[in-house]
Amino acid sequence: MANNIKVKRIGVLTSGGDAPGMNAAIRATVRTAQCLGIECVGILHGYAGLLKGKFIPLDDKSVKGITGRGGTMLYTARSKEFATAEGTKRAADTCRHLGIDGLVVIGGDGSFRGALDLSKHGIKVVGIPCTIDNDISCTTYSIGYDTACNTAVEAVDRLNDTMQSHERCSVVEVMGRHAGHLALNVGIATGATIILIPEMKYDFKRDVVERIRKARLAGRNNFGVIVAEGIEAKAYEIAKAIQEETGIDTRLTQLGHVQRGGGPQVRDRVVATNMGYLAVMSLAAGESNKIIAMCGDNFVSIDIDEALNMTRDLDAESYKMFTALTFMDKDVLF
Ligand code: F6P
Repeated sequence: MANNIKVKRIGVLTSGGDAPGMNAAIRATVRTAQCLGIECVGILHGYAGLLKGKFIPLDDKSVKGITGRGGTMLYTARSKEFATAEGTKRAADTCRHLGIDGLVVIGGDGSFRGALDLSKHGIKVVGIPCTIDNDISCTTYSIGYDTACNTAVEAVDRLNDTMQSHERCSVVEVMGRHAGHLALNVGIATGATIILIPEMKYDFKRDVVERIRKARLAGRNNFGVIVAEGIEAKAYEIAKAIQEETGIDTRLTQLGHVQRGGGPQVRDRVVATNMGYLAVMSLAAGESNKIIAMCGDNFVSIDIDEALNMTRDLDAESYKMFTALTFMDKDVLF
């Protein structure tokens, strides 16, 4: 490929909510570009910054030592202005003005929709899936998810110590926007009594109150309820209702943005590095409108159009398994 590289100058930006591993993806993008003799600029503040032409030149030295750092050195934002037809056109003009012929977009589905719009104005784009929600349909794994799970699990383990000491019920709200992947796996990993996620309908009396009572009768004296932020009821309403219905002293903890911070775990560092590398290789080969995704343990490249039309359901079997093992109830399995 060395003599046949199709782009001269690329940009890289991070968009949407930050996630641990974004910096590792930026580093791999910049260093791969430099290896191939492609210039690289960092667009600051996502698409909002692109509209304002905010950028910094990047080379191997500017990204030194950032693989293990949380957040994003390029800052991130959500831009309503970019999402308008006028905004997208102006962003494409800015790319041309900056001499950028390819753009690596690190973010989620919303960011990829923006990238697709940009590509219609002649800018080559490749996306890297990055969100702690793990809700991007075209990929089995999104950068940041593993670290966020570990952060939440560590917090819930700590909460469980004090809940056990006081024989309390702990209701913990975890992030995930409209998806329950984070909540489900945090619940499984911490031996929760109940997990409430948007993908699974529940009846409060039957699936929360009765199950807590059942667990109490089985000898349990402290209870963990993991609630995804995307369920209809508010976590504080759930906590209040549990206390009222069961009489168990109940405390609510909303983990909030703490789940998005911290240095990335090994999986996120490694996946992000691979994806940054593959994104630049794709642009260098003249490709555009691609998402670098994971299918099981393999990295694949998927057309953005196709990727945005894909759907991926939550792993319902895992939810059944959790319920069966918590309540020793084989009926939920069949
Ligand atoms: O998409 C990542 C995420 O952290 C969601 O889990 C959450 O709903 C949202 O972003 C929070 O966004 P903000 O940072 O704008 O509060």
